[in-house]
Amino acid sequence: MTNPESDAFVFFGATGDLAFRQVFPALQAMIRRGHFGGPIVGVARSASGIDALRERARASLEAHGGIDPQAFATLSERLRYVNGDYNDPATYQRLRAALSDSKRPLYYLAVPPELFATVAEGLAVSNCNQAARVVVEKPFGRDLASAQALNRTLHHCFPESEIFRIDHYLGKEPVQNLLYFRFANSFLEPIWNRHYVQSVQITMAEAIGVEGRGRFYEEVGTIRDVIQNHLLEIAALLTMEPPVDHQPDALRDAKRRAFDAMRPIAPSEVVRGQFRGYRQEKDVAANSTVETFAAVRLHIDTPRWSGVPVYIRAGKRLPVTSTEIRVDLRRSPHAVFDDPPAHEANYVRFRLSPDVVISLGARIKAPGEAMVGENVELLARDSTTDDMMPYERLLGDALHGDTMLFVREDEVESAWRVVEPALGDATPIHEYEPGTWGPAAANDLIAADGGWHSLG
Ligand code: BG6
Repeated sequence: MTNPESDAFVFFGATGDLAFRQVFPALQAMIRRGHFGGPIVGVARSASGIDALRERARASLEAHGGIDPQAFATLSERLRYVNGDYNDPATYQRLRAALSDSKRPLYYLAVPPELFATVAEGLAVSNCNQAARVVVEKPFGRDLASAQALNRTLHHCFPESEIFRIDHYLGKEPVQNLLYFRFANSFLEPIWNRHYVQSVQITMAEAIGVEGRGRFYEEVGTIRDVIQNHLLEIAALLTMEPPVDHQPDALRDAKRRAFDAMRPIAPSEVVRGQFRGYRQEKDVAANSTVETFAAVRLHIDTPRWSGVPVYIRAGKRLPVTSTEIRVDLRRSPHAVFDDPPAHEANYVRFRLSPDVVISLGARIKAPGEAMVGENVELLARDSTTDDMMPYERLLGDALHGDTMLFVREDEVESAWRVVEPALGDATPIHEYEPGTWGPAAANDLIAADGGWHSLG
C-alpha cells in the first residue's frame, strides 16, 4: 500500500458510548501489536480533563477485553484531550494546537449522525482538513436524499479517497471469510446462481433490546440500523459478480453493481415488528411506530439471480443472539432413493456469530438396511475466536489509507435506494412478544420457500 500513514488519531465523541465500547479497546489492541505510534487526541463537549479521559479509557478496557498494562500505559501517555463545542471555531484551534507537528491526522467522528456535517465543516474552516482522513460512523444519512446531502458536505471538506465510511460488519473476520470462501473455491461458482440456488436467508438475531439507546433507536429502527448497511453488505458480498482482483475499487465496484441490481423493496415484501415493552423504554415515544424487527424479501435483477428470493430478517429481543446466512440449493429433480419428499435439501451455511461456521449441508446414507439418508454437515471452519476486533482492523486500515473495507459514496447511496420504499410508516407495525421470532407475518413472507431455518 503506497498511501501515506496517518500520523495522529483524533476521535470526536471521546467521552461517548462508542468510544467507550469500541475505540479504546481498538486503540489498546493496535498499540499492543505495534500498529500505531502517533499521538491520540480525544475531543468531546464535556468539560472534563485529560485525567478523566484516562480514567474513562481504563474503565472502558476493564469492561471490554481487559487492560494490557504496557499497552495501556502507552495509550495513556499518548492521549491528549480537547474539549469544546463542535460549533465553536475555537475548538478546532485548540485541536490544531494539540496536534502540534502532526501533518496527516485521521479524524474519527464517533458522534451522533446529526453532528457529522458540523464537525466536518469545522475541520475544513479551520484548515484542519489538510492532508487528513475522516472516518464516519453509520448510519450514513437517514434516506437517499440525506445521504446524498451528507456526501456533498463531506466532499466540500475531504476528497472521496480520504473518506472512510464505517460498517463494522465489513471488519469482521467471518465476513471476510465469506468473501474469501466464495471466490477462492472453484466448486461454488458453477452452482452459485438461479439454476442451483432456491433461496437465500440472512438472519441477524439479537436477544438484547435497545439497552438504554432508546433515543438513538427512535431515530433509526431496524431497517436503518442494520439492514441498509450490515445486512445489505452481506447480501452484496453473497451475490456480486467476481471482482477482478482484491484491490479496494475492484471490490467496491463489484459491490456497487450488486446493490444496483437489488430491486427497491416493495412495501408488500416487508414485515415490521415492535417488541412488546419497547414503548416503555427510556426516551421512546409512547405511541412509537419504530420497528425493532424487520423481515424483507429482496429480489436481485440479474441473469444470475433472477427469481431467487433473498430473505433478510433482523430484530431485537429475539430468542437468541446469532447471525447466520443460509444459501439453500434446489433439490435434485429426480429422487433415486426413498427419502421422505420433505427431507432437507443441500445448503451452504455461514454462521457469523456467536461462533463461526462455514458448512455444507449434505445427505449421507443412514446406517441400516434401507437406502434412506440422514443430514450431515461438512464443516469447512468451526471456530469461536476472532483474533482481530472489527474496530481494530478498520481503524488500522483507515490509518493506513486502505479503503477496501469501507463503503464508497455510490455504494451507500445505492443501498439507500434499495430500502427507501420500506422506511418509516410505509408498512404497518406488528407487536411481538419479547423472546419470540417476531410477528407471525414474518413467517407468512417466507412460507412459499419453506419457512425460516432455526438458529441455535
Ligand atoms: C450496530 C447496531 O451497528 O450493530 C446495533 O447499531 C447492533 O443496534 C450492533 O446491536 C450489532 O453488532 P454485532 O457486531 O454485535 O453483531
